[in-house]
Parts: sequence; structure tokens; C-alpha cells
Amino acid sequence: MSEESKIVDLEDIAGVGQETARKLRDAGFSTIEAVAVASPSELASAAGISEGNAAKIVQAARKLADIGGFESGDKVFERRKTVKKITTGSKDLNELLGGGVETQAITEFFGEFGSGKTQICHQLAVNVQLPEEEGGLNGSAVIIDTENTFRPERIIQMAEAKGLDGNEVLKNIYVAQAYNSNHQMLLVDNAKELAEKLKKEGKPVRLIIVDSLMSHFRAEYVGRGTLADRQQKLNRHLHDLMKFGELYNAAIVVTNQVMARPDILFGDPTKPVGGHIVAHTATFRVYLKKSQGDLRIARLIDSPHLPEGEAIFKVTERGIEDAEEEQKRKRKKK
Ligand code: GTP
Ligand code: MG
Repeated sequence: MSEESKIVDLEDIAGVGQETARKLRDAGFSTIEAVAVASPSELASAAGISEGNAAKIVQAARKLADIGGFESGDKVFERRKTVKKITTGSKDLNELLGGGVETQAITEFFGEFGSGKTQICHQLAVNVQLPEEEGGLNGSAVIIDTENTFRPERIIQMAEAKGLDGNEVLKNIYVAQAYNSNHQMLLVDNAKELAEKLKKEGKPVRLIIVDSLMSHFRAEYVGRGTLADRQQKLNRHLHDLMKFGELYNAAIVVTNQVMARPDILFGDPTKPVGGHIVAHTATFRVYLKKSQGDLRIARLIDSPHLPEGEAIFKVTERGIEDAEEEQKRKRKKK
């Protein structure tokens, strides 16, 4: 895939003179695309201009940059009709998501360590294989594992809890370790080749997981100068994933770790890393929180077409399950 930016200079963006262009380049915004996907406040502090001006520049850059095109509404509608859902294993969590994890959409699970992100990924890799009547899509799963946390033993446990043959289930889960962010991005291309092959074999890829989305990006890009590069690459990565989802009618699930921030008492203490790029591209963002024992709370954040709300579920030996009614009631009373 050739994704090199077009030969247009920063100076071609309306409102960007030589001086501003120089400051932007110094801060790492070397292409129109980098500017197009920046947040106005990021840009304002990088170039020493007002946020109002920065917002205009971002708008102008978006017009010039080749980020996403148009498609007629009937085409979008045709594709929307083919959207399917994968059960998470918990009715409450499914309901929160509007029926389950959707295909052709990016669902981001974010939360602290141990909040259940990787467990949900494992469970979905099992559930996607179920027949449609049971909440699956009769498909296979691709996992891009960046933290080496894929555990086949856990898959077997979850599969057997559903009366499935653990080894058969493992055969339909394709796992790759990503060594760095470039490799992680390359693996999406490789996944396409795999998906073409599996489509012919009758077990199409209906789920692609990146667990975790940001760990390599976060480790590799430190410091302000490189932030713009990072956001640009991340933007491309998410769009590649989205394209994969549309091409194969697959669900895209990414995880994102956040640190609890005890310094913040009010407001939302849980800013996921990746900033506004992930926020704008992910269709569903689900914040996960540990509760007592094996209970977990999921909260849907900024969903364009679903009401905000919470779901309670359990992580047990058997995998992701419904919490007991009594536990749900107790929690809701609080
Ligand atoms: P990080 O990747 O570290 O950010 O965390 P995560 O959100 O991916 O956490 P993960 O999904 O790995 O959740 C780990 C938690 O799931 C553990 O603390 C356990 O509570 C639970 N868990 C994992 N495996 C099992 C299991 O086999 N049995 C039971 N009962 N619980 C499990
Ligand atoms: Mg994890």
C-alpha cells in the first residue's frame, strides 16, 4: 500500500506562512496529513499560535489531505445492512453495546491492568466461532498480540465451558506477536492475505483484535517532537484496521491501557492514551473497571448512537459471564 503523502508543502495550507510552517516542522508536523489529524490545541502550542487559528489550519489541512473519501448513501446503507454482532458472553454487556460487538466498527476496551480487556478478547475469539443462533458468526479470529498475553490454555478453558472442543477452537484463532509498531501495522496487511485464504476455505475472518493498540506506540514515541509522527501513524493504522473490517465484514477490537490517576478526584480520571485520534476513530469506546471480586463494570463512552450506560459482568473460570441478578441490584442501588 502506498501511503506516502502527496507532494504538497505545509505552506500550501491556507493560513500557514513560512514562519508557522517552520515552527510546525520543528515540532514534528512535517506533512499535511500530520497537521490534518492534529488537535488544534496540540498545534497551537507547537506553533505558538492561537487555538482559533490552529483550528482553521487543521480544517484547511483536512481539505488538502487525502483522509477518507465520499461514498453514496445507498452504498453505506447496503453495507450497514450486513453489520453483524458477536456476543461477549454477558447479556448486560451485549445490551450496552447494542446487541454485541459489531462488525465494520472499531470497539475499544480501555481500562486499568486486570480490568478484563485481554479476557474479553479471548472470549470474543471463542465466541466468533459459534453459529449465528448462539451469538457467533461462524468465523475465525485474528489476534495481533503486542504484549505476549495470548494464552491458548485460557481459550481451551473458555471453549470447553461452552461444550466445544478446545483444540478445534484454537485452530481458528490466528495469533501473531507484534515486535514494534511498524510490525504491528504490517500485520494488518498480512491479515488481509490470511483473510483471503480463509474466505475460500469457508471459515472467514470475522474478528480482528489488537491487544494492546498503544503499548508499542507509547514506548517508541516519547517526547513532543515525535508526537505528531506517532499520531499520524496511529491514524493510518486505525484506518487500515477499519478497512479490514469493511472488506471482510469483521469486528475490530482494540484494547488500551489507562492508568488510574489518583491525583484527579473530579471529572473523568481515565484518559486513554492515543488521544483524540483513537477517540475519533473508534466507534464504540468501553471503559472497564474492576469491582468486587470477579465483578467488572463496563461503561460506554461518547457513543454517537447508543445511550450512555453501565453494564456489570463477571470474569470467571468459564470466561465472561453474566453477574448474578442480586449483584447487579446491589450495585445499581449504590
Ligand atoms: P492489562 O493487559 O494488564 O492492562 O490487563 P487486562 O485488562 O488485559 O486484564 P486481563 O483481561 O488480563 O484480566 C486479568 C484478570 O482476569 C485477572 O486479574 C483475573 O481476575 C481474571 N482472570 C484471568 N484469567 C482467569 C481465570 O482463568 N479464571 C478466573 N476466575 N479469572 C481469571
Ligand atoms: Mg491485557
